Amino acid sequence: MTTRGVTRRGFIWSAAAAAGSCALPVLDSSTSLRLRQNEAPQNSRSTNVPLKDRAARRGLLCGSAVTQTHLSHDSAFQAAVAAQCNIMVPEVELKWERLRPTPDTYNFSSADWLSNYAQHHHMKFRGHALVWHEELPSWFASYVNPQNAKPLLLDHIATVVGRYAGKIHSWDVVNEVIWPPDKRSDGLRDSPWLRNIGADHIEIAFRAAAKADPLALLTWNENWLEEESSLGDAKRTFLLQHLKELLSRGVPIQAIGLESHLIGDHKNIAGPHFKEFLSQISDMGLKILVTEMDIRDFNLPNDIATRDQAIADLYYRYLTTVLEHKTVVAVLTWGMSNKYSWTATFNPRADHAPVRPLPYDADMNPSPAWNAIAQALDNAPPR
Ligand code: XIL
Repeated sequence: MTTRGVTRRGFIWSAAAAAGSCALPVLDSSTSLRLRQNEAPQNSRSTNVPLKDRAARRGLLCGSAVTQTHLSHDSAFQAAVAAQCNIMVPEVELKWERLRPTPDTYNFSSADWLSNYAQHHHMKFRGHALVWHEELPSWFASYVNPQNAKPLLLDHIATVVGRYAGKIHSWDVVNEVIWPPDKRSDGLRDSPWLRNIGADHIEIAFRAAAKADPLALLTWNENWLEEESSLGDAKRTFLLQHLKELLSRGVPIQAIGLESHLIGDHKNIAGPHFKEFLSQISDMGLKILVTEMDIRDFNLPNDIATRDQAIADLYYRYLTTVLEHKTVVAVLTWGMSNKYSWTATFNPRADHAPVRPLPYDADMNPSPAWNAIAQALDNAPPR
């Protein structure tokens, strides 16, 4: 694992920027990008300008995953979401486990609540996720077989996508379907969908989603794309291969979702292969979304100021790299407040200290990560 030095040029740069008057040296885009990528975020952004407004100035959407429970029971949390976000995605309410209590029934109560909340607050609404190997209902494994899996999936997509047609910005049609460790020659995950329908479950899902809502931005969402590692390389390569083949046959894939669950102490994030991958995706005419960003801090020092700065630096460097691509249309974090982050359960710290992966702390105060996101949005080239 190589360690890339991060130089702190930021002070001179932003002090001059803050001064606003002095003539800054005119830098070509690659130099200014390189400087910005190496620059540390400064705690100078006024929180009076919400993230959604900073994003909108650049033609971007900015928001978060939310749950009905947190929005309806926590007024401070709700206020921050309403103030900062112009796009939101249900963290769990549009997943099979929540939507399908039995093979023949649907429960839309929580998803409808969130869809209405988004409309009421003039936010775009994302759907997540139609095909995923996780969070399947308890009846799924014993009920689904090669005879009923395809009609079950087609009915689900027609019903769910049809219900929110015209109210949805984008759907994660497939989620985490590439998994090279399963050692298939096509790199696909050995999921219940693959086992019961076959490798064409991806094409079937995209075509069905396009039929049910021709306006939604149909997204292929993936994890572990961001690192310079053998897993990262393999996932990016397999994804590009499938995209080339499927797009050549007119399969309606319109965007790629970069989950961006980053690991705080990893130095191999957003390197040259990842940058090249973003260019290749853009050259295919696809849009890009950062769909689930957070920074897991289980290996970072316990000291909060040190930890927060490392997290803010990575938010800033990663987003600056990604936002260089004008095909990027949205940035979402996987939650707004550390107190509700899934990483507390799935990636806890050995020292049991509370995790700090998100833009707001447990008291709903903006953290240095908020500032880093604000600065990356402010510095992004307009779309
Ligand atoms: C997670 C949720 O945050 C948890 O609350 C739930 O228990 C498990 O799923 N990739 C995804 C998300 O695509 O749907 C996952 O969300 C996190 C990883």
